[in-house]
Amino acid sequence: MIFMKKHLILSKIALIASLALVGFVAHAADVKGDAQAGQGKVWLCIGCHSIPDYRSDYPFVYSVPMLGGQNGPYIATALSEYKKGERKHPTMRSIATSLSDQDMADIGEYYAAQTASSPNNPLK
Ligand code: HEC
Repeated sequence: MIFMKKHLILSKIALIASLALVGFVAHAADVKGDAQAGQGKVWLCIGCHSIPDYRSDYPFVYSVPMLGGQNGPYIATALSEYKKGERKHPTMRSIATSLSDQDMADIGEYYAAQTASSPNNPLK
């Protein structure tokens, strides 16, 4: 009987722990991006991806999508698709692998805020 009770308590603990985990995963899926934080995370990207009025040699040589002014959640989703392997580009995959969900959301918001007329564009 004592054994049964212990077993019941243990399975209750396991249930609570898994519910907590579900809560955490659900939360991670809708992290909110912060453009200011993103500014410190795009140094890797600037060499290849241009923003309006910012000169980068690469877009004229290779076909690299312009990110400035792009929708923030779109960028974050694209990055997580590279990370998960749903998008195949090898360079982007290895770059996205190093980014957390928070990094992706921050970077998305940063690029969403960059346009040719953006007064706060530090790279213009
Ligand atoms: C070595 C060059 C290079 C670097 C560095 C680089 N990218 Fe890319 N990126 C590309 C290329 C090329 C593509 C197009 C790949 C494809 O066709 O899937 C791309 C695609 C993307 C896309 C998809 C855009 C769309 O419209 O679908 C996003 C988002 C992106 N990159 C974000 C980033 C971010 C954020 C960084 C920095 C953390 C970064 N990239 C660094 C070359 C680069």
